[in-house]
Parts: sequence; C-alpha cells; structure tokens
Amino acid sequence: MKILRTISQTQNLTSKLRSKNKIIGFVPTMGFLHNGHLSLIKEARKKADIVFVSIYVNPLQFAPTEDLSRYPRDFKRDEKLCKDAGADYIFYPSDEMMYPRGFSTYAVVEKLTSGLEGKIRPEHFKGVTTIVLKLFNIVQPHFSVFGQKDAQQAAVIKKMVKDLNVNNKIVIAPTIREADGLAMSSRNVYLTNEQRADAPYLYKSLQYAKRKIMLENYNRDIDFLRSQMSKLIKSRKTATKIDYISFNDYDTLEEIKSLKNFKFDKILVSLAVRFGKVRLIDNIVIKR
Ligand code: PAF
Repeated sequence: MKILRTISQTQNLTSKLRSKNKIIGFVPTMGFLHNGHLSLIKEARKKADIVFVSIYVNPLQFAPTEDLSRYPRDFKRDEKLCKDAGADYIFYPSDEMMYPRGFSTYAVVEKLTSGLEGKIRPEHFKGVTTIVLKLFNIVQPHFSVFGQKDAQQAAVIKKMVKDLNVNNKIVIAPTIREADGLAMSSRNVYLTNEQRADAPYLYKSLQYAKRKIMLENYNRDIDFLRSQMSKLIKSRKTATKIDYISFNDYDTLEEIKSLKNFKFDKILVSLAVRFGKVRLIDNIVIKR
C-alpha cells in the first residue's frame, strides 16, 4: 500500500489506471478509522481492481463553534488499518494542497441540505460536497462507498453526482454497530463510561419506531412516535439534549408528519442527541 500526498501524483496515477481499464473504488474518510470505515473499504475491495482511501480532516465542514483541532487523528494507526482492510493507496493531502490561498469555489446542494443536520449545522454540507467533489476529481473513481450512518450526507452526495453529471457510482453500505447497538463513530471515543452506557438508547428508540410501524401497523401522527422515542432517550440521564427526531422520505428527505394514508417504499427515521459535549447521530431505514 502506498501513501500519496500530492494531487498531481494522484491524478496522474488514476488517469493511467483508468486507461488500463482498472476499476477504481474509493472510500473518502476523515481518518481515525473504526470498523465502520473498514467495512466500507472491504465493500470497495469486493468490486474494485484498485482501492483508494482518502484521509483528510476537512476544515470546511466544521463550524467555528465545532472544535476542529479536537477531532481525533492517528495516521500511523489508520495506515495499518487501511493496509489490513485491503486498500491499495491512501490519498493524504495537506490543508494547503486542498485549499490554497485564494480558494473561492464551492459545490452546494440546495433543499436536501436545509433540514436535519443542515438546520443545526448550516454550512456543513457546503463543506462536505465541496471536498467530496474535489476528491472525486482527484481520485477519478468508478464508484465510491459511503456509510448509511450519515444518511443525509449520502442523499446529498447522490444528488450532487446526479445533478452535476459526475461519472461515479455512489454505493451506500450499512451502518456497523457495536454489540449493544451503538452505531460506530469516531466521536464515540469522547463518551465517558456513563454516557457510553446510555448511548445505545438511540438505537433502541429507532427500533421502537420500526416495531410500531412494521409489526403494529401504526398509521397515525408521527408526533406520538416521536414523543415515545424522546421519553425513552430522556430516561437516560446523560442524554442532555435531543436536537431532532425526524421521519423523512428516504430519497427526497421530505418530512413525514403522519402515516395516515401515507404510501411509502422507504422511511428514514433519524435523530441527533447530545451527551454533554458529544453529539451523536443515528438512523434506521424502514422498508415495505
Ligand atoms: O463522512 C465523512 O467522514 C466526511 O464527511 C467525508 C465524506 C470524508 C468528507 O470530508
């Protein structure tokens, strides 16, 4: 496995690989890898001749109030994990390389970014789509793998790729969970023991909604489900604030207020909850 630190080196290599008809699979990450990321790399490995992983903590997707400098980093550990998971190359650029002085062009997906995470973190998706489009232009993958854990990010990237005719297939891989149901996330390392013990209640509350809709055919207002989920989460004393619990159409992210007469293929139930300073997100997709 090789580490590539420059854009020109990476673009030259991927152009050559493409000219030799090699299938390039790509997994963009911000490092501090966990089993969730490794499952994305393994997914890419199944279908690609060459697997690229990028490791770059993108300053553009952090608000000034979010502590970018506190984001966990450990490149040596990431390098070993990537190698063991079957990656061929890591693209590992510097800030100066990605955002040179005078940088002033952005990719923005409208509408899909106005609710959920976009409401709480208004500039976040502009940062995500800009860096992801840049990475696509550098790595030139045939397909890229993202996790279902960041459901809105996945929907936004799919939309950007469609609207801007980016020649790259987006593959969404399932959320990987700890044995007690907590979704794997780089942020989990910040949880205290007490918070860690309470955090699986997020998944428990999502499963409650799924059970009500799928097994009990619940078909009334969403407010009732939301308040029951909220009660369950608030029963844990380290869950300090629920930013949102939301029911949306999986593809359009349109908010669903009632299930009465509502015909759906897939509902996305998502939430964001703060445990002190640690903010966790999770979601579940309900299919019919
Ligand atoms: O999901 C992430 O880790 C990041 O948002 C991504 C896609 C690597 C862009 O910085």
